[in-house]
Amino acid sequence: MKFAKNILETIGNTPLVKINKITSELDCLVLAKVETFNPGNSVKDRMAVKMIEDAEADGRLQPGGTIIEGTSGNTGMGLALGAIVKGYKLICVITDKQSKEKMDILRAVGAKVIVCPTDVEPEDPRSYYSVSKRLGTEIPNSWYVNQYDNPSNAIAHYEQTAPEIWEQTDGKITHFVVGVGTGGTISGVAKYLKERNPAVKIWGVDTYGSVFKKYHETGIFDENEIYSYITEGIGEDILPKNVDFSVIDGFTKVTDKDAAVFTRRLALEEGIFVGNSAGAAIKGVLQLKEHFKPEDVVVVLFHDSGSRYVGKMFNDDWMRERGFLDEEVTKASDLIKSHSDKPLVIVRTEELVSHAIERLKKYNISQIPVIDTTGFVGSIDESDLFKSYFSDKNIAEKPIKEIMGKPYPIVQENTPIEEVSKLISKDNQAVLVEMANKKYHIITKHDIISSIN
Ligand SMILES: Cc1ncc(COP(=O)(O)O)c(C=O)c1O
Repeated sequence: MKFAKNILETIGNTPLVKINKITSELDCLVLAKVETFNPGNSVKDRMAVKMIEDAEADGRLQPGGTIIEGTSGNTGMGLALGAIVKGYKLICVITDKQSKEKMDILRAVGAKVIVCPTDVEPEDPRSYYSVSKRLGTEIPNSWYVNQYDNPSNAIAHYEQTAPEIWEQTDGKITHFVVGVGTGGTISGVAKYLKERNPAVKIWGVDTYGSVFKKYHETGIFDENEIYSYITEGIGEDILPKNVDFSVIDGFTKVTDKDAAVFTRRLALEEGIFVGNSAGAAIKGVLQLKEHFKPEDVVVVLFHDSGSRYVGKMFNDDWMRERGFLDEEVTKASDLIKSHSDKPLVIVRTEELVSHAIERLKKYNISQIPVIDTTGFVGSIDESDLFKSYFSDKNIAEKPIKEIMGKPYPIVQENTPIEEVSKLISKDNQAVLVEMANKKYHIITKHDIISSIN
């Protein structure tokens, strides 16, 4: 019989798969190390279990203890598998930028999840770095993993990921391209490959909003470069100890839009359903085109699975809201795609102003058309509402007809976008569009801005 003694034994030995279509403009062989095949669906299973085992070995982690980590989800999943098999509790501290799916998955494997704000400095007591560190000192018999600075992270890739790549390519690998977060993957793999063949070139994929590329090129840690971005798993606003800049030959930065678009293309054109950092990594390979010769063997690593991003990069509305879908926007009906499935929110002339306020809050909107039995007869705009409120504090109990503004102009679904945008001005905040099925939708300034890529 051939079976694994537990799920941890199935980690590693992931396949190397040729990329055929997306990289057709390159003459060299491009091979992807697809880490989704690990039991926790990411490369992070490898380092998570290695970190646990090293901590057990030197007594940092004691029987029945609590493992604490600040994790964007994948390391948490790997730690959860280790915790289940080895009998530990797990607390994952995560930022609110992470997808809901990631949080639900962590809870499904028994982790307690604590969510912290993304837009705070790393030193801020609310940041996920600070919260995880603090819990590590407060909770008895606990161990704070710290994947950023924990050397076992990179060692796992030195011991497992890199030898697999070396063997699978028969030692012919010439370039390794990978997204960089904690730096564990790139540094561990790079050290091993360069020991085998110092000519192997190592490229890191970075994000806009992260400090790695500039730091590598100039030695300057530029705080002005730090801003929040969308790509998940890669880029940092700190310099983790696991990033060994001395074994990295260069970085290339990939935009949020490109990372998202290429994540979708990997699924659609190669049948490889992987995560957002894989999209960034394959786009990074294309950006590095001039560094590759026809006889080169380029290996790119895909960290995790697409299933963790179904509500994001694989969701048309999410992509459209961020201007990531290259759709042609020429007419009125193109402007309402993100809300055309939802009914128009309206108020009636005889309703009270408090009802309109309630609806503005409930639907998080700024304008509402007003109707009576004859059709659209007015409009309520939040800024007019503020003005009216400050001249009469009892406004909430008045009927809407007493404070409503002019009705919004109505256009047809084929009206060109240029005409629609001319109708929106300081005095007129929205336009209504009448669809062929006689239903109406609202077009606001926000819809017009979102359509600009
Ligand atoms: C999806 C994803 N991509 C890329 C990375 C970066 O890998 P590393 O931390 O080894 O640099 C991570 C890890 O944080 C990740 O979860």
